[in-house]
Amino acid sequence: MPKPAERLNKLPTYFFAVIGQRIQELQRQGIDIISLDIGSPDMPPPQAVIDALAEWANKPNAHGYTGYRGTPGFRQAVAHYYERRFGVSLDPDKEILPLIGSKEGIVNLSLAYLDRGDLALVPDISYPSYSMGARLAGGEIHWLPTNENNSFMPSLHNIPDAVANTAKLLWVNYPNNPTGATATLEDYVRMVDFCRQHGILLASDNPYVDVNFDGFRANSVLEAPHAKECTIEFMSLSKTYNMGGWRLGAAVGNAEAIKTLLQVKSNVDSGHFRPVYEAGVVAMETTPQQWIDDRNLIYQRRRDRILSVLPQIGLTAAQSKGSLYLWAKVHEGTGAEYVEAALNHAHVAFAPGSAYGPGGDSYVRISLGITDARLEVALERLVNWHNAKQR
Ligand SMILES: Cc1ncc(COP(=O)(O)O)c(C=O)c1O
Repeated sequence: MPKPAERLNKLPTYFFAVIGQRIQELQRQGIDIISLDIGSPDMPPPQAVIDALAEWANKPNAHGYTGYRGTPGFRQAVAHYYERRFGVSLDPDKEILPLIGSKEGIVNLSLAYLDRGDLALVPDISYPSYSMGARLAGGEIHWLPTNENNSFMPSLHNIPDAVANTAKLLWVNYPNNPTGATATLEDYVRMVDFCRQHGILLASDNPYVDVNFDGFRANSVLEAPHAKECTIEFMSLSKTYNMGGWRLGAAVGNAEAIKTLLQVKSNVDSGHFRPVYEAGVVAMETTPQQWIDDRNLIYQRRRDRILSVLPQIGLTAAQSKGSLYLWAKVHEGTGAEYVEAALNHAHVAFAPGSAYGPGGDSYVRISLGITDARLEVALERLVNWHNAKQR
């Protein structure tokens, strides 16, 4: 066999593939593992969405290629969603591009903008696809430290001018995976001003915008004045409507960035299955806000339940206002050590903070995407493990 491309050497093995293998090994031994590591919604989408998929799949004319830009109806539904939710107007033909899940668009954006050696600004502690996309494209990463002191938000004023003036992309994500940090509209205004000043494309990855707690309502960066001049936002149906496996999202914002992303995409994929787009339209056009609020209350209750137990299991976390996660600091050793011990002794899987950047070394990420019953079993096992350790 020929040697794989050099660029693959720059990619660490995807963390979830590694832990997934270890989990499978334990499961083969008959051990019941409870996964608090993967951020996948555990509840189904609204019934009307599933019905629409079935109805469209039964139509004989719904099985051909749909085109590189998805269906006009899907783009229109994204435009309605932005108008309704954020008061942001988007041109469905020029400012919206359907994606096969936002992850696809995130990686393709790096291919669209980064040549060898080009610079992307990536928060240290962030969703791995921003840095992996840059590496696949041959680009370079300038890490922006985030931590408790800056509320897990990059301090843009600390970026040297020489870096800011050459960087092509700035990645941000609020509500944040993995930290649960959130941004205000003022934060977005500052990011937009910074990117306009330095000629940077602001890439806001926003899949958790509708997973909010305690009455908080997250913003879209496109609400900031002049955002469209320099911004692309990735929206996703995965978390808003519990549709992770459906692979449906969209890139929205600056028309030139959308066109450039399409140039890559149209050479890579041929769009989605029509029934999936049509079900997505039903999700966006008919799901009542109450459905989203009720679902969020379930996540919020789990968040509070986990927070109440953390002191008993050697962890501390802030009360996140959004996203599907708690970002918990370990009291002893590293996050990776804690994850390994919890998997081996309590048979509960967490994600180690180091999977999100070197700044995450002493953290573990806990997902709220787990049924209440399984969560209770997991917490009981963790408390028993921790008590046994103290004896
Ligand atoms: C921050 C962040 N961005 C993007 C994605 C990918 O979402 P999608 O399902 O739309 O590809 C995820 C998935 O967990 C995520 O956490």
